[in-house]
Amino acid sequence: MDRKDFLVTIGKGAALAGLVYCVGCSPKNTDNPVAPSNVDVTLDLTLHANQPLNTIGGSVVNNGIVVGRVSQTSFVAVSAACTHQGTTVEFQLQQNQFFCPNHGSTYTLDGVVTQGPAQQSLTKYNTSLSGTNLRIYS
Ligand code: FES
Repeated sequence: MDRKDFLVTIGKGAALAGLVYCVGCSPKNTDNPVAPSNVDVTLDLTLHANQPLNTIGGSVVNNGIVVGRVSQTSFVAVSAACTHQGTTVEFQLQQNQFFCPNHGSTYTLDGVVTQGPAQQSLTKYNTSLSGTNLRIYS
């Protein structure tokens, strides 16, 4: 391979790498759903759909909010859409975080970004357990 062929090959590789980067991590993102505001939702923990919340470490997604059980008496709730490109984040109690499976952003249980590419925090909501009713509210 002479110098000219080498440079053409390198150029094609760089162009492909740039294309992959742009497709996966475009900084212009207009698809992010807006975090729910004025939230006041009550989840009945006796319903089948909410059964994961009866186990420590379990979670559900409801009305654009991820709710996770941290202990026997405490829960966390944040907006479900990753602030990078809107993928639903996952509750990971053992790592004390929310994780985005799309590009790997992580957030504290309060929704604060700890690893990008996301740069904005998730919206955190209050939780209150009364019997088998879990209230999530702004
Ligand atoms: S969508 Fe890209 S890190 Fe979540």
